[in-house]
Amino acid sequence: MEPSLDELKQAVADYKRKLHARGHIVALAGNVSTRIPDTNHVLVTPSQVPIDALGAADVVTISVDGDFVDGNRPPSSEARVHAAIYRARPDVGAVIHGHSPYATALAVLGRPIEPIMDEFLPYVGGTVEVAPFGMSGSAELIEGTVEALGPRAAVLLRHHGQVAVGKNLDKAFQVAELVEWAARVTWLATVAGRPERLPPEAIETSSGVYAYVKDM
Ligand code: 13P
Repeated sequence: MEPSLDELKQAVADYKRKLHARGHIVALAGNVSTRIPDTNHVLVTPSQVPIDALGAADVVTISVDGDFVDGNRPPSSEARVHAAIYRARPDVGAVIHGHSPYATALAVLGRPIEPIMDEFLPYVGGTVEVAPFGMSGSAELIEGTVEALGPRAAVLLRHHGQVAVGKNLDKAFQVAELVEWAARVTWLATVAGRPERLPPEAIETSSGVYAYVKDM
């Protein structure tokens, strides 16, 4: 059975709380959204609401064009980035943006997360590229994010953080966790030596698996 609108709003607030609990964000950072099925509307977290005060009633409805539709608060300052991803990627049902520390450290360095671990590829679909820096909400940030995301499940935002996408909130959250894990392994492996990419045949095989996992 499809969740009700109130349940979906609660889920958006809960996933933002989960980001906080898992150490992906501190203070007022991060934002979460999901499509409202069978509409061109999206539910997104409000801008700058403290995590302890965030509830379903604070979640804002926007259109996939990024315009305000309904809500008690202004939408996230990144709502237009979320909307642009939904427009570009019909397969995406949820978007999660956080500032998890290892992924953000690589984003600060402008260093993509290369496919060095096999479990990473089927869920993310390839190298996590770095979108060029753009101020929050700017056209540069919106266009650069969509382009660097491409058909994959995650992208790093230069000097900022990570964006993970998935068919639903659960999948997008799993990707956000995996990206942070891969960033951490990349960091550790780089400290100890020079991490090597997976062999090309493993990358090719996993790309096929990704097409399948993406739709699950
Ligand atoms: P919002 O509270 O406006 O969503 O901004 C938080 C953030 O992390 C911006 O990148």
